[in-house]
Amino acid sequence: MATIRKAASLVRLRPGGIDDLDDVMRIMGGAFQPCFGEAWTRSQCAGILPMSGVNLTIAEDNRGPAGFSLARCVADEAELLLIAVDPASQRSGIGQSLLDNFIATVRHWGATKLHLEVRDGNPAVAMYRAAGFIPACRRRNYYHGADGRAYDAVTLILGQ
Ligand SMILES: CC(C)(COP(=O)(O)OP(=O)(O)OC[C@H]1O[C@@H](n2cnc3c(N)ncnc32)[C@H](O)[C@@H]1OP(=O)(O)O)[C@@H](O)C(=O)NCCC(=O)NCCS
Repeated sequence: MATIRKAASLVRLRPGGIDDLDDVMRIMGGAFQPCFGEAWTRSQCAGILPMSGVNLTIAEDNRGPAGFSLARCVADEAELLLIAVDPASQRSGIGQSLLDNFIATVRHWGATKLHLEVRDGNPAVAMYRAAGFIPACRRRNYYHGADGRAYDAVTLILGQ
C-alpha cells in the first residue's frame, strides 16, 4: 500500500482484517496503559471489523506488525477510533504514518469532517494537533481506568 521512511526505520502500511486480530490485541495490550481504560476488548474489535465503512490498517516494520489504526467512514464523516504502536517501535514515525494515511484515505473516500476522541493528557494529542486537529468538546469522565478512576475525553476535529 504505502512505504514510509523515517530515520533508520522502514514502515509498510497494508489493509488489515479479522486475521490480524491477534496482532491488534498484542499491540493494543502493550501500547495502552490499563490505568486509563482506553483499550478496546477483543470482542469490541471483532464486532466492529465486519461493519460497513470500517477500515483497519496495519503498519509493519522489520519486526512484523508494529502498529495499527482503526477508523470508520460514513458519508462525509470519518472517525479515527483507535491508533496504537508497539512500545518497541514507538517514536520512529509509525504513528504519524498511520495518522497521515487515515486522513488521506478518508478524504479520498469523500469525508470532509474528521474527528476522534482522546483522553485528556494523552501524549498523542501533540501528534493530532500537529496534523491540524483542534479541540471541539470535552466529555467528562469518559474513560474509566482499571482502578475505577475516571478521565475526561477531548473530541478533536479536522475540517476541510
Ligand atoms: C500515540 C502513538 C500511536 C504514537 O505512535 P508513534 O509511532 O510513537 O508516533 P510517531 O513516532 O509517529 O510520533 C509522531 C509525533 O507524535 C508526538 N508524540 C508521539 N508520542 C509522544 C509522546 N510519548 N510524548 C510526546 N509526544 C509524542 C511527537 O510530536 C511525535 O513527533 P516527533 O517524534 O518528531 O517528536 C503511540 O504513542 C501509542 O501507541 N500510544 C498508546 C496508544 C494511544 O494512546 N493511542 C492514541 C489514542 S487512540
